[in-house]
Order: sequence, then structure tokens, then C-alpha cells
Amino acid sequence: MDIGGASSVFSYHRGMLQDRARVDAYRAAIHALVRPGDIVLDIGTGTGLLSYFACQAGARRVYAIEAAPVIALARELAQANGLADRITFVPGSSLDVTLPERADVLITETLWNFGVGEGMIGFVEDARRRLLQPGARILPGSVDLHLTLIQHPELHDLLTRTPEDRHGLDFSAMRGYAVNQVLTPRVDPKHFLTAPARLLSIRLDEPARPDFGARVALRAERAGRADGIAGWFEAELAPGITIGNAPPAEGSSWAHALFPIERPIPIEAGGEAEVAVHTASNGAVWRWSVEASGAKVDQTSFFGFPHDSELHRRRAGTAKLRRGPRGEAMLFVLNSFDGETSLEEVTQRVEASFGDVFRQDGSAGLFVRNVAETYGAAKD
Ligand SMILES: C[S@@+](CC[C@H](N)C(=O)[O-])C[C@H]1O[C@@H](n2cnc3c(N)ncnc32)[C@H](O)[C@@H]1O
Repeated sequence: MDIGGASSVFSYHRGMLQDRARVDAYRAAIHALVRPGDIVLDIGTGTGLLSYFACQAGARRVYAIEAAPVIALARELAQANGLADRITFVPGSSLDVTLPERADVLITETLWNFGVGEGMIGFVEDARRRLLQPGARILPGSVDLHLTLIQHPELHDLLTRTPEDRHGLDFSAMRGYAVNQVLTPRVDPKHFLTAPARLLSIRLDEPARPDFGARVALRAERAGRADGIAGWFEAELAPGITIGNAPPAEGSSWAHALFPIERPIPIEAGGEAEVAVHTASNGAVWRWSVEASGAKVDQTSFFGFPHDSELHRRRAGTAKLRRGPRGEAMLFVLNSFDGETSLEEVTQRVEASFGDVFRQDGSAGLFVRNVAETYGAAKD
């Protein structure tokens, strides 16, 4: 039994704690950058690991922010390690929290397989404006994005093979979406077709834009066909202390990023390929293109899933909406949070008023608890 995804939370964080290169590099960098008496901000504290290192390095106070329920585990671990009095755990996204003082140092390990694709630039920028002292030290200071073309026919076949003709049914429409999705397999250097190159370098200790990308020329080291672009990162945590996942990255908690090429491109040994990768909104959407041997592909993760026009109609800036049945129920629940009425009573009232919305036993209670968790505040 996996209550609330607990076992996946454990295996996710256990994998990161067991990644010695990651843990040791972060520890060394924190000891290099955090000075005794510092106020430290740890964005995405997870099990609290980096906050504990900051305390060991002499931090006077650490604000440890975490959006996921793992923060409860971090609180317990801080107690067990005698550090609870120096760490203030703050649940929620860093973008939503406010703190009583600005920090001297920001530490964060929210690196994605291809570096900064999971919103890091955006929330570091937000922290710089609202939560940090001017000139605060930021760890990591920079992230370099590297890439190469790979030949990996098995992976490509796996993507493009769809159960087309089974039982007279046609699933071929899935193929066009599958090849426009960014994947995260582990890449072996034996699949490299071109010599790797650095696409770009992003400094986090300076204002950075959430839309970034670049173009790079790659040279084929052998003849073959380009099936995809593989990407990885190298981050400088502190001067001279780096961490990365260059393939094969055995034992690393990071895999790699793969941008598939819909129609593989043959390349001669020594042939040149122009490769461009861009992202909009911090990794929310990716666009990649490859030009080689007179052929060109230009793809985007925007085409990685069918466009839901009804959903987009509701999201459009011009949309004029009324509340749907669940919206009414949400409003009812929020209005019932008056500091007097118990969740049990709220649930009973929701069951009585919204029987058409919550038909399954227990579903009204679950809805109320979820609203309470996200939008409720305990009475002082
Ligand atoms: C890769 S884990 C690292 C955990 C821990 N710092 C470590 O080094 O073991 C990243 C964590 O950051 C959290 N996270 C990501 N972005 C966040 C944000 N903007 N605010 C709060 N938590 C965030 C995720 O929920 C996740 O638990």
C-alpha cells in the first residue's frame, strides 16, 4: 500500500541522498559559501539536507521552503539532528511565501536533467527581488547546458511504434505527439554521433530571463543517423566546485534530457549539424531544430499532446465564465471556514447540498480536506 504516494516520495529522496557526488559537492560548496552568522534561504529543502549543511557551516538561521508534503519528514529529521531551533520550515512554493527577514545566501538544488528546466530561473529571480539581501551569494552560481546528437534507433523505434493495426484499430495518431515530447532516459556515450558542445551558460547570480536558448554547430565523429538531441548540465555550485550529469553519469540521481528527431537525419563522418534548443517560460515549452545534410527538422513540445480547444477556450484572457458545479462547492466550503465550524460539519453540509457533484461515498470529505489543506488556516 502506498498512502498518499509515500513510497515514491521516499524512493525519490532516497535516490538523491544516496548520490554521493551530488551530496558531497553541495556540502563542500555550502561550507565554502556560508559564513558563521549568515541567514540562509534553502528553496526546495526536500528532506532538509542542504539546510543541515548550512547549519553545520555556521548559519544563524535557515529558512527552508518546500512545496511538497516531504516537509513533514524534514521537520522530524531536523529534530532528530538537534537542528530544529535554527531551521524555520516554510511550507509552500517559494513564489508564494513571505519571510520576516532577507537572507545572505540562497542555496537550492532544483536542477533538472538539462539544468534549469524546472522553473529555477524564475524562482531565483523572484527570491532575489523579495527574499534576499542585495548582493546575496547564490548557490549554484551558474549552470552550463551541454548537448550532442545521438544515434539510438531502438529508442526512436520505441517512440514511433504504436499499436496501429491491432484488432482493426488505428492508434497511429499517437506517433506525432510521442516524437514531440521531451524524454528523460539515461544516455550512454556509445550513442554519441557528434562531439558534445556547450549550448549556453546561465548565470544565476545575475538577473536571468525565463526564456532562453541558443544555436550551436556540432561535428559528426562518425557516419550515422541522428535520432535525437541528448542534453545534460554542469553547474558551478561555488568557485571550483561543480556538479553535473555528463553521460554516462553512472550512480547519478539525474538521468538526461532527450529531444527526439521525428525524421532521423543521416550524417557523414565529419559532417556538420546546426542544432538549436530554446525554452519558453522556464522549461514549460521546448523548441528544438536540427539542420544537417540538407535536411531540417523543427519541433516543439507544444505539439507533444493534443490541443484541447475546450480547455483553451476556458483559459483565454477574453473568456467570461460562470462557476461550474465544483466551483460552487469550493465557494461553499471556503465560506464555511469561519473558525467555528468543524470539517466534519462542513462535510455533512456539502454532502447535503452537493449530492450531484460528490456521488461517491467519502468524496465530499476528501474534497473538503483538500480545500482545507491548501486554503485553510488554523485558528490561533
Ligand atoms: C531535487 S529536490 C532536492 C531536495 C533537497 N534540497 C536535496 O538536495 O536533497 C527539489 C525539491 O524542491 C521542491 N521545490 C521545487 N521548486 C520549489 C519552489 N519553488 N518552492 C518550494 N519547493 C520547491 C520540490 O518539491 C522538491 O522536493
